[in-house]
Amino acid sequence: MDYNSILKDAKETIGKKCRVCKECNGIVCRGEIPGVGGKGTGEGFSINYAKLKEIKINMDTIYDFKEVDTSVELFGKKFAYPIFAAPIGGLNLHYSDVLNDETYSRAIVSGCKMAGAAGFTGDGVKDEFYDLPLKTIEEAGGWGIPTIKPWKKEEVLNKVKKAEAAGALAVAMDVDAAGLALLAALGKPVSPKSVDELKEIISSTKLPFIIKGIMTVKGALKALEAGAYGIVVSNHGGRVLDQTPATVDVLPEIAEAVKGKMKIFIDGGIRTGIDVVKVLALGADAVLIGRPYAVAAYGGGAEAVKIYTEKIGKELRETMIMTGCSKLSDIDESVIYKPSRR
Ligand SMILES: Cc1cc2nc3c(=O)[nH]c(=O)nc-3n(C[C@H](O)[C@H](O)[C@H](O)COP(=O)(O)O)c2cc1C
Repeated sequence: MDYNSILKDAKETIGKKCRVCKECNGIVCRGEIPGVGGKGTGEGFSINYAKLKEIKINMDTIYDFKEVDTSVELFGKKFAYPIFAAPIGGLNLHYSDVLNDETYSRAIVSGCKMAGAAGFTGDGVKDEFYDLPLKTIEEAGGWGIPTIKPWKKEEVLNKVKKAEAAGALAVAMDVDAAGLALLAALGKPVSPKSVDELKEIISSTKLPFIIKGIMTVKGALKALEAGAYGIVVSNHGGRVLDQTPATVDVLPEIAEAVKGKMKIFIDGGIRTGIDVVKVLALGADAVLIGRPYAVAAYGGGAEAVKIYTEKIGKELRETMIMTGCSKLSDIDESVIYKPSRR
């Protein structure tokens, strides 16, 4: 199995809503929900991709070479790469029934683990949409991160306890799902969470708590005040609100405000190891990748997820060699090309 055969096989199994485009940039699928696009005009997805592409990298290979180390420490554990699979839920709704939320999560969680990385799992209107993916984390010795939707507090507290019982690495909440009309239509409303409510939830557990869906400095500071271990700078792949800026555009100011005080993850349009270097240079500690992981899982299950993770990891390593960075902490703003420096 190689990456080309994974893409070829994914085209057969993934369904009609994802075209497995050469560039997964949100253009062809724009506005398609159910499906894999961004909401409305779809620009929340496509801008993430486009803005990352605009950033260019400084190449310099005259330096005293040391073996490259792509590993990162998070949650008191060591990972081979700062790369995580983002939570994706509603597989049958958005892709095809070749995989469901359980079989998809098993491919993601075990494939990422085989590559020395880790995967997030999702949540949904029925209990089983959280419980079955969580079971796959438990099967992997806890090596994964369940993501809870912003339901009523009692339900969130109950799901946090389940994450603890499964021995998960951490637990997350996609607070940006707060306006998802789809969930309300199915009779299970979600809502914004106050800092006090988040404090109560976060202090109920010893697990590191990650708040996913932060797009402003104000939001990041509130997550910090609530006691979060980390945030994911994310616009949910453009699926919850049309016309947001690109995640990479809001990253530097968020990093300036909270870097070193909490961990900063980012997602949205990250497709290559070069993209990973770009966002680490702008202040992120690690990345999440969404849609391409779904393509990998449909194209060859856990083995394909492992191959895909290693592909991005290899690109990261190559980019580090070409930019004079032997460890992740060497990647800083000097790696980013700024025309004004000429
Ligand atoms: C079909 C689909 C389903 C998703 N489901 C969830 C989910 O259940 N929970 C969540 O936090 N994010 C969900 N996301 C958002 C991703 O976790 C992630 O933020 C986004 O896909 C990152 O952008 P990228 O796909 O461009 O890498 C979903 C995204 C897609 C495309």
